[in-house]
Amino acid sequence: MSVTKPLPHDAAPLHVTGKARYIDDIPVPSNCLHMAFGLSEIASGRIREIDLSEVRRAPGVVKVWEAKDLPSDCDCSPSLHDEPLLSGASVHYVGQPIFMVAATSHLAARKAVRKAKISYQPRDAVLTVDEAMAADSRFEDGPRIWEKGDADAAMAEAEHTVSGTLEMGGQEHFYLEGQAAMVLPQENGDLLVHSSTQHPSEIQHKVAHALHLPMHGVRVETRRMGGGFGGKESQGNALAIACAVAAAETGRPAKMRYDRDDDMVITGKRHDFRIEYSAGFDGNGRLKAVDFVQYARCGWAQDLSLPVADRAMLHSDNAYDIPSLRVESHRLKTNTQSATAYRGFGGPQGMLGIERVLDHVAHALGRDPLEIRRLNYYSDVGAVESLDGGLSAPRAPAEQAPPPEDISGQKKQAAAEEDLTSRGAVSSVPAGPAPSVPADRQVTHYGQPVEDFILGGLTERLAESCDYAARRAGVAEWNVGTPLLKRGIALTPVKFGISFTLTHLNQAGALVHVYQDGSVALNHGGTEMGQGLFQKVAQVAAARFGLPLDMVRITATDTAKVPNTSATAASSGSDLNGMAVKAACDTIRDRMAEHLAGLFQAKTSEVAFAGGEVTVGSETMSFAQAAKLCYEGRVSLSSTGFYKTPKVAWDRIKGQGRPFFYFAYGAACTEVVLDTLTGEYRILRTDILHDCGASLNPALDIGQIEGGYVQGAGWLTTEELVWDEDGRLRTHAPSTYKIPACSDRPEIFNVALWEGRNEEETIYRSKAVGEPPFMLGISAFLALSDAVASCGTRYPALDAPATPERVLRAIRAVRDEL
Ligand code: MTE
Ligand code: MOS
Repeated sequence: MSVTKPLPHDAAPLHVTGKARYIDDIPVPSNCLHMAFGLSEIASGRIREIDLSEVRRAPGVVKVWEAKDLPSDCDCSPSLHDEPLLSGASVHYVGQPIFMVAATSHLAARKAVRKAKISYQPRDAVLTVDEAMAADSRFEDGPRIWEKGDADAAMAEAEHTVSGTLEMGGQEHFYLEGQAAMVLPQENGDLLVHSSTQHPSEIQHKVAHALHLPMHGVRVETRRMGGGFGGKESQGNALAIACAVAAAETGRPAKMRYDRDDDMVITGKRHDFRIEYSAGFDGNGRLKAVDFVQYARCGWAQDLSLPVADRAMLHSDNAYDIPSLRVESHRLKTNTQSATAYRGFGGPQGMLGIERVLDHVAHALGRDPLEIRRLNYYSDVGAVESLDGGLSAPRAPAEQAPPPEDISGQKKQAAAEEDLTSRGAVSSVPAGPAPSVPADRQVTHYGQPVEDFILGGLTERLAESCDYAARRAGVAEWNVGTPLLKRGIALTPVKFGISFTLTHLNQAGALVHVYQDGSVALNHGGTEMGQGLFQKVAQVAAARFGLPLDMVRITATDTAKVPNTSATAASSGSDLNGMAVKAACDTIRDRMAEHLAGLFQAKTSEVAFAGGEVTVGSETMSFAQAAKLCYEGRVSLSSTGFYKTPKVAWDRIKGQGRPFFYFAYGAACTEVVLDTLTGEYRILRTDILHDCGASLNPALDIGQIEGGYVQGAGWLTTEELVWDEDGRLRTHAPSTYKIPACSDRPEIFNVALWEGRNEEETIYRSKAVGEPPFMLGISAFLALSDAVASCGTRYPALDAPATPERVLRAIRAVRDEL
């Protein structure tokens, strides 16, 4: 069976040899136009006068468009109709496209746009949270508020309280491949669009809308992205629409790619947040009430800000059963880039809020934060009982039976699958009394029962394997003896909800062909951005047909093959597309089985697909022979497949329902050392135990966990976005914006997968892995905070990102020097 194997990424050899094709590698026809945008130089105001005569005269320029020259407003928004491709009379941020140029080369286009003469009538820009609140500048009438219990009353009765404010920065996606698109005009005014996008159907929809074409007139193809991280859910729309306008009007191909600086100045980033909190708790540290006010800086257009802010609210409990929880969320409109999706989609911001609270409570009581965390965890639900009454001792992973390879008979195949899906479940629970709680007793603040909680056992296992208790004592001892360097350690959990909160997006389609030589071509609606989705889905297809992987060809995502797809986002790529592909494969397999059973006078239950062969009763043939027999028997060897996630239903206005099919879990322990003279620091060691259910591919999953952790730690440590008082982004290149380098990864980095299975019926009982590990990076931030705390007596109100400057300031604050 090809599922569950740690196989390499299908394109790994292409990635490392430079042969993987990205948009910019597609050979362009000789008459191709190259596009560039001319950008606003002010954050807010009206355009008084615009003189593009020198732009038009510049070498190589073929055509120039202002807003008034476009065939429509060419709206680029994924949500509201509030993002014209080119600004008309007024501009809303520094970097907003005002006009666009088509020229004979990329360089000619970029040089030409600089020759514009534009004069503005500036208005006061709304840049900060405070300015937006003062101006009541927001995307909804007022704040959104969800509440469980009566937080005010519970707070008033609580024995102790703490309160504070936490600022956290945004984050540039820094995908290695920048935004890019190319449009090739076809017959009848149709367009073929190559786009580096997580959402081909959205590109198709927006291009069709801009040019008043039916969607069947626009075909979008995406082979792969060089990273997306959420930054290519909506931010590619402008480039594709710009190229489409140029192609439609000139009949020539058109291509656009942003230079890195332009990419950073034009496109949206992670939302920065301010979170004000207060918490009431008893003498043991048990939370009674928590109150959050979240302020999200959303930028000038709505984009995906409402669901992002919703997800921040949804994750403000993280792993904790809080009797009374109130969350108030302000979605602020500011004159900055329109903030957008970024790995975790608001979840990280919400989660950091509650992790700060737990840390603060522990500090107030002088207790170990891990103890306080565990005290407040939801309870592990029935993990032991469901399998063997909680009596069995944990088993080592090696003792588990490997998934059988050579089973025969469809029934056996099904049985083997069952075996496979229950893989490891027994081994996952540490010995000792695991508390079991009826699901209806623990409910999130949005009304979803927590039915699959495993963090109690998982945390215990991680704390043991990373030797947490001894190392915490070691850190304390070290800090006493070392005046200038201080160490810190933190172990933090993640509980992340899996599904699109916009329920109808939880669907996927697939198209599978078996050719008469037995080779298989695979299409689905998901896109590949490095996460390994194509490999996982190919493993599913190979497993369904009992074929070796090299018989399955993964093809580019194509709106002409699978229509009406959702973005590859919310970590649900393999959950959704894996299931859709499975459905398509099974349809074909059943047709083949029926035909072959008839041919050889056997029962369909006696037809089995395994090891590249098909067995029919006593006959055995290669899969290729079987395919040929079916072809000659006029059996359709092509099928679509479809999947929709069951059980999810959600009212985002009330904040009630079941937005998530299930939760993914994980925990990380990070130890850091910092220099109290400079504020500089290193991550010394990180241990992670993460839950991928029954992993479809442990190698890819571990890659996602490592990458997610490092990206999450980068967000909270060195990655700093700085806007000046005029709203100009000053950190718009790698020279000033510091993402983690290879040398910044933890010196010791132990990543292990929790041996378990999804309680819900997902594809082979696996769990989504794309985003959840990002939030393991919170442990790096809180380890720094812990190190800072050892410098004084006050609670370190460290803001994020914890740059060396902020760390130094926090050290002075805990020493009462500020
Ligand atoms: N991993 C790589 N290498 N590159 C990426 O762009 N994007 C992340 C995550 N992992 C990303 C990645 C984000 S934001 C999401 S939502 C998921 O992958 C999307 O893919 P999946 O649903 O197939 O996990
Ligand atoms: Mo990921 S932020 O859902 O693209």
